[in-house]
Amino acid sequence: DLFSSPDDPTAALRALREELARRNDLPPWAAEATQLVFGEGPPGAPLLFVGEQPGDEEDIAGRPFVGPAGRLFDRAVVEAGIDRPTTYVTNAVKHFKFKPTGRRRLHQSPDAGDIAYYRPFLKREIEIIGPQLVVSLGATALRALTGKPLAIGKTRGEVMETPDGIRLFPTVHPSYLLRLPDAEAKAREYARFVGELKQAKREVA
Ligand code: URA
Repeated sequence: DLFSSPDDPTAALRALREELARRNDLPPWAAEATQLVFGEGPPGAPLLFVGEQPGDEEDIAGRPFVGPAGRLFDRAVVEAGIDRPTTYVTNAVKHFKFKPTGRRRLHQSPDAGDIAYYRPFLKREIEIIGPQLVVSLGATALRALTGKPLAIGKTRGEVMETPDGIRLFPTVHPSYLLRLPDAEAKAREYARFVGELKQAKREVA
């Protein structure tokens, strides 16, 4: 096996989460977040999804993928025939990075330094869960897992192996679908996303 799963993955996950919560060398912006948002799902999950970072709603709820992108993701996962509770969902960056603008908090993309900071935690999280396939959603997750700024368009929809020996299946981020301006493109891209999720499911069957 490519992964070294600990004897008690639940305890190992809790310890990892507490270690991150205790860190006093976080990127300075992380102090503005409400809380740490760690991954969710059962150890041994065959599919592990990696997003970018918690958004506004996730920051408040303390749970990954519960906002608009999360709702779209859930819908697509169900449509792909994947049983959501059997999967593990996490983010490359585990605090909400934002710019305060009036009463709204504007999402800020994490930079290479932010990604590198959280990377050991993501790596360890994946080792503990021990999935058969990791699905990266968008460019940040892909970069966190490969260490390289690869293009989604050139890598999506095919299994690759990361330098750490992780079986990785890159696809787009659901928020990309939300941002598409016209309905036709949205429908087309959503269908393609669902198709890729189905393919990911077949890879672990
Ligand atoms: N977008 C992400 O990448 N992750 C979340 O948890 C929510 C939105």
